[in-house]
Amino acid sequence: MFNIILFGPPGSGKGTQSEKLIETFGLKHLSTGDLLRSEISRETPLGMEAKSLMDKGQLVPDEVVVGMIHSALDANPEVKGFLFDGFPRTTAQSEALDKLLKLKNTAIGVVLALDVSEEELVKRLLNRGLTSGRSDDTNESVIRARIVEYKEKTTVVANHYAQFDKVVNIKGEGSVEEIFSNLCSEINNRMSII
Ligand code: AP5
Repeated sequence: MFNIILFGPPGSGKGTQSEKLIETFGLKHLSTGDLLRSEISRETPLGMEAKSLMDKGQLVPDEVVVGMIHSALDANPEVKGFLFDGFPRTTAQSEALDKLLKLKNTAIGVVLALDVSEEELVKRLLNRGLTSGRSDDTNESVIRARIVEYKEKTTVVANHYAQFDKVVNIKGEGSVEEIFSNLCSEINNRMSII
């Protein structure tokens, strides 16, 4: 199994690049944002609790997202690997993920961190908010709150994996194809040394 974390702030292109990467490398895409939005659209109690936090740009509690990831890992025993998008977002989540993967005799192969300036992030998300229907994209103050959450709680996740030499920084500005090509090169490099 080869497992990847696609890491980066809101709007850095994780979802866009994930779609292309899972096709190329045959991985299972696990996006906690997508899983939460699915709960919201089905109006489950979990979804309703999550929505109030997501609408404010705040993180959902660790135990909620870790539980969702645990179920998703168990539901996909035969995959070539997982591509984690938007997870882990706190140190507690990264520690929980490492334990869950260890139980399955696997681990994170590489963390690909997309680097995009804050003004570009805000521009992309406001632009997407014109058509996406995502309530957390329509208001600039909520977008900035998401970026603050990222800086305060999520950037440390990269430090956690950097101690094991697993983090590769990738320029996240430029064309989607150019960024995709750089991501593919890094994955191929890492895959060739395991
Ligand atoms: P989530 O759904 O994970 O959203 P996010 O991290 O805020 O990321 P986005 O989906 O907004 O951006 P992205 O990096 O995927 O970029 P994208 O490719 O879409 O999380 C939403 C909320 O759920 C969180 O705020 C939190 O409340 C909760 N949540 C989720 N996971 C959680 C967790 N683990 N723990 C706790 N809470 C959690 O691109 C963005 C836009 O830019 C698109 O319009 C795209 O077309 C465009 N774009 C992409 N690439 C380029 C490019 N190269 N040039 C120009 N435009 C581009």
